[in-house]
Amino acid sequence: MDEQFIANRKVLNMKKVSHKNLIQIYNYFKSPDRVYLVMEMMSTTLASVMESTGEIEEYDASRIMKEIGDGLAYCHRKKLIHRDCKPENILISERDLKLGDFGVSTFEEGGTVCGTSAFMAPEMFLGESHSFVVDSWAMGCVLYEMLTAKRAFNGPVGRVEKKGDRWKIDTKISFSPDISEVLAGLLQFKPKYRWNMQQLLSSNWLFAQDEKREQEIT
Ligand SMILES: Nc1ncnc2c1ncn2[C@@H]1O[C@H](COP(=O)(O)OP(=O)(O)OP(=O)(O)O)[C@@H](O)[C@H]1O
Ligand SMILES: [Mg+2]
Repeated sequence: MDEQFIANRKVLNMKKVSHKNLIQIYNYFKSPDRVYLVMEMMSTTLASVMESTGEIEEYDASRIMKEIGDGLAYCHRKKLIHRDCKPENILISERDLKLGDFGVSTFEEGGTVCGTSAFMAPEMFLGESHSFVVDSWAMGCVLYEMLTAKRAFNGPVGRVEKKGDRWKIDTKISFSPDISEVLAGLLQFKPKYRWNMQQLLSSNWLFAQDEKREQEIT
């Protein structure tokens, strides 16, 4: 896809969504060869934070999953698939966590292969038609990366082994049962069995982490 097309799509789709966990676009200007976007300003990205700190604490990772999950659930209700969830596109400020970069987002379920290969759901890589749960797969990759400071997969369904219908990440790292359940749900190979964002948001793991947060506040 050419840059002008991506920039136009970014503007068009961003203007159609408004949610506390999605980057807001205020205005845009076009010159013959460029599109300029005026967006709310964030301080950094999850990718930059992880570059300096390495892995993210479980408690913080759960907040990121919950908030970005909320933003994505909203997009999906609006029938928008983001298709490029990854640490570079998760923006952070002192108070907020927001998903940005709607350059390859789409209102059509379809077959275009796009996004970033390491976060690409198997059905997209295999050229099958894809839907909202490609974002679930990507969020599974993001969660794995936050907790381990390692890429879940090096490329599309890279270092994975097939176990029945599940694809298991090639690692010895073990997670708590609650986190394993989330990873298994989001990184489910077959899209029809993969968790959607509502399942993530109502997972035991996020529920337990939420309780911790509430106890801290009171
Ligand atoms: N609203 C924002 N506030 C602060 N930084 C931002 C914002 N939007 C984007 N950035 C920074 O710019 C980078 C690229 O922006 P974005 O993801 O929207 O475009 P992109 O299509 O991925 O561009 P490129 O591929 O050239 O990096 C982000 O990874 C982030 O570092
Ligand atoms: Mg980007």
